[in-house]
Amino acid sequence: MFEGFNKTKKRKLDNTESSSSALHQSKPWVEKYRPKQLDDITAQGHAVSVLKKTLQSANLPHMLFYGPPGTGKTSTILALAKELYGPELMKSRILELNASDERGISIVREKVKNFARLTVSKPSKNDLENYPCPPYKIIILDEADSMTADAQSALRRTMETYSGVTRFCLICNYVTRIIDPLASRCSKFRFKPLDATNSIGRLEYVAREESVQYDDDVMKCILDISEGDLRRAITLLQSASKRILYTGEKQVTSASVKELAGVIPDDVFQVVIDKVSKNDVNETIEYVNEFIKSGWSAASVINQLHDYYITNDEFNSDFKNKVSLILFEMDSKLANGTNEHIQLLNLLVKISQI
Ligand SMILES: Nc1ncnc2c1ncn2[C@@H]1O[C@H](COP(=O)(O)OP(=O)(O)O)[C@@H](O)[C@H]1O
Ligand SMILES: [Mg+2]
Repeated sequence: MFEGFNKTKKRKLDNTESSSSALHQSKPWVEKYRPKQLDDITAQGHAVSVLKKTLQSANLPHMLFYGPPGTGKTSTILALAKELYGPELMKSRILELNASDERGISIVREKVKNFARLTVSKPSKNDLENYPCPPYKIIILDEADSMTADAQSALRRTMETYSGVTRFCLICNYVTRIIDPLASRCSKFRFKPLDATNSIGRLEYVAREESVQYDDDVMKCILDISEGDLRRAITLLQSASKRILYTGEKQVTSASVKELAGVIPDDVFQVVIDKVSKNDVNETIEYVNEFIKSGWSAASVINQLHDYYITNDEFNSDFKNKVSLILFEMDSKLANGTNEHIQLLNLLVKISQI
């Protein structure tokens, strides 16, 4: 594998990266290591065991999967479909639409409805012998919480009318954004954020398969940064392992992972804290100018200030409450697209004046 990596490096340096094997090597690891069967899905024991039971009876309800990103929702329904139909029949029995597809009301009326009303294709003899091949199709609406309420309403009738030949699987992060009449027609499956043991197991597996060398504390560092989102964790591992090809380091270090993830290094962060405690507005203004110029994002400051203040026993609850409110306010302002520079200044000055 290392040989392979070295070849990639040379090719990149030669500027001829378009060969097909280079493309193959750069396949995102999240796709390459997407669980292929239900048994490979970690940490979602409840959802997986219920789904496995439905596999035996091959009688599936409409389903609603919800939970934070990168916890296995899409992988689970794809694995389930594969186990129900096998890789061949799956192609004609599954319609998968995600947020990048237009899913306004007209699409629901046309594309979804047309697929829903189709009679099911006949399985081949081979498929029948190896898979349950139940007599219905599955329509997967990934990221369903980004569908308008109108489109969701339109879906309601389709769901009812064609339930004889079609099952729906809605996937979303926020279950509250699915209108009640839809949610109440589905069996709900909650996907939990992955805990450290489970994620580390999966990450170490990927690292082993790809022969990535890494320091002892790297996995923990990746997990802290990705907060239960395994997609983010695997992507970070892949970027970090690509990076050492160029920097010449022997193995992935937590410092390089942090840098890739945009985490502000301890020494820089310490200066931020010092400025806050000093409470000199002019100095803070000057410092924020420099800080923004060196490319750190205000969002990272908010995250790290949060960890610093909230987990630190030196500060009393009253102080922590006030800091939280300020951080919350800044976070929502930034999410609405206000100017980073001004918000960061505002944030530091406000905290120093508590
Ligand atoms: N529970 C899990 N078990 C194993 N791998 C997982 C799990 N959750 C996420 N992953 C990994 O993260 C990637 C993204 O998972 P995905 O199913 O697309 O998440 P979601 O749809 O919940 O955002 C997958 O390719 C897989 O490698
Ligand atoms: Mg998904």
